[in-house]
Amino acid sequence: MLNIVIFGAPGSGKGTQSARIVEKYGLNHISTGDVLRAEIKNGTELGKTANEYISNGQLIPDALMIDILASVFDSFKDSKGVIFDGFPRTIAQAEALKKMLDERGQEVSIMLDLEVPEDELMVRLIKRGQETGRADDNEETIKKRLVVYHSQTAPLIDWYKNDGKYLHINGLGTMDGIFADICKAVESL
Ligand code: AP5
Repeated sequence: MLNIVIFGAPGSGKGTQSARIVEKYGLNHISTGDVLRAEIKNGTELGKTANEYISNGQLIPDALMIDILASVFDSFKDSKGVIFDGFPRTIAQAEALKKMLDERGQEVSIMLDLEVPEDELMVRLIKRGQETGRADDNEETIKKRLVVYHSQTAPLIDWYKNDGKYLHINGLGTMDGIFADICKAVESL
């Protein structure tokens, strides 16, 4: 089982590169952002709660997010592996993921950290907001998302370094070039 955590700030290319990894290696993809947006679209109670946090650029509380992750993960039977996109985002989530995988005799294979300078992140997300109308891709909310990333999510870089799973990927450049670096990392596992 390959369990890949794809990590990075908002707009770093996690979703873009996950789609390519899924296509090439046949892994299952868990994007917690996509799961939450589907709940919002369907007007569920969870979606209503999630919308309050997402539209403010804040994280959904850990306990709720960990339950969601576990139920999606358990729906994959006989999987070759999973790519975790947007999870974990806090130390508590990383510890929960480790425990969940331990209990199933598995572990995170690698954490790929897509690093992209902040001015480029802003350009990408504003452009996507204009093209797709994604509600949290406006300048004010993007700034809040970046603050949350630095305070609550970036500490996971040291956490995964200490766990021996960390790999830095330069997330600036062509999508093909970045994917080639990711493939090298995946194939070395
Ligand atoms: P989520 O959907 O995970 O959003 P995010 O982390 O902010 O990431 P994005 O989807 O904005 O960007 P990405 O890194 O996937 O980049 P992408 O490939 O799309 O989460 C949304 C919200 O849900 C959170 O703010 C939070 O409220 C909540 N949430 C989710 N998970 C949670 C959790 N675990 N705990 C608590 N709350 C949670 O690329 C971005 C754009 O750039 C695209 O238009 C793309 O075409 C373009 N692009 C990609 N690569 C390149 C490149 N190399 N060059 C130029 N353009 C590129």
